[in-house]
Amino acid sequence: MRRLLINCRTLEGIKNILIKDELIDYIGIEKPMHEELVDCSALLVIPGMIDAHVHVRDIEQCNKETWETASNAALSGGVTTIIDMPNTIPATTNLKGLNIKREAAKKAKVNYKFHLGATENNLQELHEILKNKPTDVAGIKVFLAGSSSNEVVADEDRLKDIFKLAKKYDKVVLVHTEMQDCLNKWQKIIEDKFIQNHDQLRNRECANKGTELVLRLANEIGNKLYICHISTKEEIELVKKYKNKKIFCEVTPHHLTLEKSILELIGNFGKVNPPLRSADDNQVVWQAVLDGTIDCIGSDHAPHTIDEKIEDYPNAPSGFPGLETALPILITEFNERKIPIERLVELTSTKPAEIFNFEKRGKIKEGYFADITAINTENEYPIVASLFQSKAKYSPFDGSMVKAGIEAVFVNGKMY
Ligand code: DOR
Ligand code: ZN
Ligand code: ZN
Repeated sequence: MRRLLINCRTLEGIKNILIKDELIDYIGIEKPMHEELVDCSALLVIPGMIDAHVHVRDIEQCNKETWETASNAALSGGVTTIIDMPNTIPATTNLKGLNIKREAAKKAKVNYKFHLGATENNLQELHEILKNKPTDVAGIKVFLAGSSSNEVVADEDRLKDIFKLAKKYDKVVLVHTEMQDCLNKWQKIIEDKFIQNHDQLRNRECANKGTELVLRLANEIGNKLYICHISTKEEIELVKKYKNKKIFCEVTPHHLTLEKSILELIGNFGKVNPPLRSADDNQVVWQAVLDGTIDCIGSDHAPHTIDEKIEDYPNAPSGFPGLETALPILITEFNERKIPIERLVELTSTKPAEIFNFEKRGKIKEGYFADITAINTENEYPIVASLFQSKAKYSPFDGSMVKAGIEAVFVNGKMY
């Protein structure tokens, strides 16, 4: 047995945390027997982030990111659990794809699970996977529109079938809600195809319509629904209207803190789907974070190579890395806005653990796994994308100052 004692500042005050092998054995002011002592007395200690929205890539896209580099990025950002999205090559839409991914993920240094991908014709294959009750599958992801490399579910009846399947196996359906036919319409209306028009070309109407559709269907069917990356104030209103205990929603750090005007400066490095919106939207989404409408914050870590991102607007892929910036940006913002860090921990750890059934994770609590992040909240640090662990060494937050330095991370009691 290995006993490691951390003395640190928790949200409840100065504490000693005793880790026995991979679990938290004791939290309090006593100093129980231990073999190793880690002095984190100057650091704030919170549960490691559980990021339910990560595009790890790997397999045929190792040039963009691998499980190794994504793990290193997670560790450097204070993220101890990641759930990988299925729009990989090959996609995680059948057992073969899942098994290939399982093999690749053995390189992971953090906890992980997978979301399966739904298409318009893989219901039977999903059923075959789910009937065996795999413990490494967290949810089923649906894209209502093309975004990076993914298959689209556009047909409402197919969508209903997926929701029913998810209900049968008590899995969460995660949805990227921009709708393809709506995007096609706006592609025709807006003639000037450049980055400053990204949020017109992928007009807010398309996310709003899709969000309304899936809220309506999930209410009808009674499955668990997780709306990914809410970006508009109308979506917040819709969620408020339909919200019940099976409906969850997520926001990203970038949809909270960045607005589309930044694209004049950073071009395609800020190209992401759904697009960055207006200050007005940011403000309403912050309000929803405060009033409990938002359940989770996911990074939507979506690495692409720099060579791809510097292509002209129509050819540059959407997405950017987020694992290394999410917690530092959020801690800084929450402190500046005087929102308690307790609320942040709910959004980044406790709620995702509950929604995706991670037992004994998401809290710093006796008997729980020792997934812990220790943060210096006194000093200021610049975000330097060229030093990222991710292969994608750029960020819309590049050069921002944060008052949060990730100093140590424990995953199942192992210190990094
Ligand atoms: O910007 C995005 N990038 N949005 C998505 O929905 C997919 C993601 C990716 O996989 O690159
Ligand atoms: Zn998405
Ligand atoms: Zn995504």
